[in-house]
Amino acid sequence: MSYPFQIKSPDEYNKAYKQSIDDPEAFWAAVAETFLWKKKWDKVLAWNFREPDVKWFINGKLNITENCIDRHLISSGDKPAIIWEPNDPKEESRTLTYSELHYSVNQFAHVLRNNGVKKGDRVCIYMGMIPELPIAMLACARIGAIHSVIFGGFSAQSISDRLQDAGAECIITCDGAYRGGKDIPLKNVIDDALVTCPFVKKVIVYTRTHTPVSMTKGRDVWWGDEIKKVEEMRYAEIPAEEMDAEDPLFILYTSGSTGKPKGVVHTSGGYMVYTTYSFVNVFQYQPGDVHFCTADIGWITGHTYIVYSVLCAGGTSLMYEGLPTWPDAGRFWDIVDKYKVNILYTAPTAIRSLMAYGLEPLKGKDLSSLKVLGTVGEPINEEAWQWYDEHIGKKKCPIVDTWWQTENGGILISNMAGITPSKPSYATLPLPGIQPALMDEHGKEIEGNDVSGNLCIKFPWPSMIRTTYGDHERCRVNYFASYPDMYFTGDGCYRDSNGNYRITGRVDDVLNVSGHRIGTAEVENAINMHTGVIESAVVGYPHDVKGQGIYAFVIFDNVHEDVELSRKDIMQTVSRVIGPIAKPDKIQFVNGLPKTRSGKIMRRILRKIAEGEMSSLGDTSTLLDPGVVDEIVKGKI
Ligand code: WTA
Repeated sequence: MSYPFQIKSPDEYNKAYKQSIDDPEAFWAAVAETFLWKKKWDKVLAWNFREPDVKWFINGKLNITENCIDRHLISSGDKPAIIWEPNDPKEESRTLTYSELHYSVNQFAHVLRNNGVKKGDRVCIYMGMIPELPIAMLACARIGAIHSVIFGGFSAQSISDRLQDAGAECIITCDGAYRGGKDIPLKNVIDDALVTCPFVKKVIVYTRTHTPVSMTKGRDVWWGDEIKKVEEMRYAEIPAEEMDAEDPLFILYTSGSTGKPKGVVHTSGGYMVYTTYSFVNVFQYQPGDVHFCTADIGWITGHTYIVYSVLCAGGTSLMYEGLPTWPDAGRFWDIVDKYKVNILYTAPTAIRSLMAYGLEPLKGKDLSSLKVLGTVGEPINEEAWQWYDEHIGKKKCPIVDTWWQTENGGILISNMAGITPSKPSYATLPLPGIQPALMDEHGKEIEGNDVSGNLCIKFPWPSMIRTTYGDHERCRVNYFASYPDMYFTGDGCYRDSNGNYRITGRVDDVLNVSGHRIGTAEVENAINMHTGVIESAVVGYPHDVKGQGIYAFVIFDNVHEDVELSRKDIMQTVSRVIGPIAKPDKIQFVNGLPKTRSGKIMRRILRKIAEGEMSSLGDTSTLLDPGVVDEIVKGKI
């Protein structure tokens, strides 16, 4: 497969960028032409950011799975689509060629149909990192069902919230998942979630860990049994459902600064076109390259850069079930060596945690197949960038620092590997079609270079969020109300004298812990559910490995004489309500929180204390009781 839209030089980048601004519709139509459509669009784009109402490839009809699978069958049927490396290096790996993936997706699409799933239905997927996860996603897309994948680290309560919000009546899960030395009992967690979700009619369970599970008659069925039925019936291939370009492809929940996580909705046409464009250009993917994205498919990075874009490009996607440090910290390097990985795409937090093991785990590992390195999810510090460059890329591999968000679908700001220059800790330049703007606190655009502001995007791109599921107003308020006619990212940003962008972190109350987005309000709500807690305030602080750690200030009714026990109780509560990923790293018991006279918590002060910058607390005279600050400073942990 060749990519007519692949940019090959800095000049071509400049030309493409200019075209994409001068005539975005012609630009994106030319890219979209290279895909398989059941019917071409009538109009490329209609939009306004006030409602917001954004539509791409209007009246175009397609099915993304024909682009991910079917169209590669003739030329590349025997080519590996997915290579899977198990958690345990002693277990055998698996490879699915495009033909095999086609077969498996069709079989499972029949299973979904047999279990009553129809076009437009929401299907929740809660599985570990095994090939059946992308198979399940693609089978949903094949029949036009909307998948909503939930990361395996979320608790029963979080799952139940998402099931209710999405109105999902079918769940696909596993008995359990392997992660490092642990077995995570996924089906048990689902059973707990379903206590409050009686509307769920079907649970399809794939056997992975042989963990004992309870199966409810009439509701729960085994994946294996259902596939057997399909085989016995000798069904023909399922024709790919005709989808409108604007039909939802999936919902993915993500945290914001307020309330419960919201369901970001992505559509078929625009998501397919933009994400594939970004994949081929940012990573400079060449046919035959092995692409290893280490993200979990439960997050957007896995959706886009393990599943959809790589397969649309006819590429080979390597997925890994386990952890970077199990059974030892050389696991990634063994995988790179074993499969001759060409592109490695990971998170700064993983790089930092591996750095801490020194160079020993790299000994004897042949990394010479690597051509391109990538990072995503959080700002990368210069030290980690240099280590990645020197010890992994051996100073021969361009590093792409890719900035984007769940709401964006694909990478928006990044250098293109080997084409446009990298700059440590900078995402650098916008992709064609992306028009960034830096805004000041008065809502005015800051022009020129060597300036900082809040990062917005001025013009739609094909894979942008269309709505938040079931609550369009929330989408408007969250992303389109802060600055008129702009999409607001929630990130702060600096533009250097050459126009390179450097993301400085969130400017709202959202934390980025190990590249995972967590709302402080969500963590506070969870902490407050513990009976002893009167009030709490959560802020982030710099953490060597995680990027940001979670610091909780808690007013507790009756701290146990064993203070550690009270802390553990709170941790347990947060784990139950959200999931282990949201557990605070530090909990400080306090008698009061710094509040203004109107009762608002002054987070700025708490942030400074958590960061250890006691000398620059600023003006505390407007506080209701300035004395609490001294007490909090004294008790800092
Ligand atoms: C942050 C992950 C700096 C940012 C794809 C954004 C980054 C949030 C980068 C989105 C980067 C992502 N440099 N910060 N290269 N990439 N971020 O939705 O704060 O999980 O708003 O999407 O991660 O996180 P999300």
